Amino acid sequence: MEALRIALTKGRLEKNTLSLLEDMGLDCTELREKGRRLILPIPGTNIEVVLAKAADVITYVEHGVCDLGIVGEDTILESGSSLYELTDLGFGRCRFALAVKKGTSFYEGYRAKTVATKYPNIARNYFEGKSLDVSVIKIEGSVELAPLLGLADGIVDIVETGSTLRENGLEVSDVICEISARVVANMASLKLRKAEIESLVEKMEQEVRKRA
Ligand code: PRP
Repeated sequence: MEALRIALTKGRLEKNTLSLLEDMGLDCTELREKGRRLILPIPGTNIEVVLAKAADVITYVEHGVCDLGIVGEDTILESGSSLYELTDLGFGRCRFALAVKKGTSFYEGYRAKTVATKYPNIARNYFEGKSLDVSVIKIEGSVELAPLLGLADGIVDIVETGSTLRENGLEVSDVICEISARVVANMASLKLRKAEIESLVEKMEQEVRKRA
């Protein structure tokens, strides 16, 4: 039978995901010693792990070339995709926030405001929800630079420990929502490989409950 493919987000969520899989009794030696390889088998199972950037995890699962994905809710919200969310893994917890230069107020004055963000859809939705006309500029990383350089009045970004904001003289103005790592599934896989997927997700949930 074809391997059950799981796409994992590289970077931030990788360490926690691997320790979750290991605590479930899965052999992650190949993953730990992956070198530059991107498709890794889990010995003794029919599971194959694919390592990808967060947005690509969603693309692979949406197109059905991966059955499951582990990805941050930030990426899911930003993509607006119609993936099936199976469970909350409880790690990768952070907040979406609007942050500004310390001591300033985003809403002060009548001048049109600008925010910089890696998440333009989330930022637009947030301000639309407040019926505010805010310009959104897409930045690829280290968004904190934008208000410091005078490009934007604030940023919409994820805040985990808060140290990036603190060390750059910024502070949270509004908390938009709380986020964490999720397991997502391709709709067709969920129908065709229901038993396999359910049993794996059940094991993940058992581990997550133990950690709570
Ligand atoms: C994220 C986020 C913040 C930082 C928040 O960036 O965009 O910059 O982490 O974490 P903290 O509250 O614990 O300081 P990331 O490290 O993913 O890098 P990037 O900005 O280059 O995308």
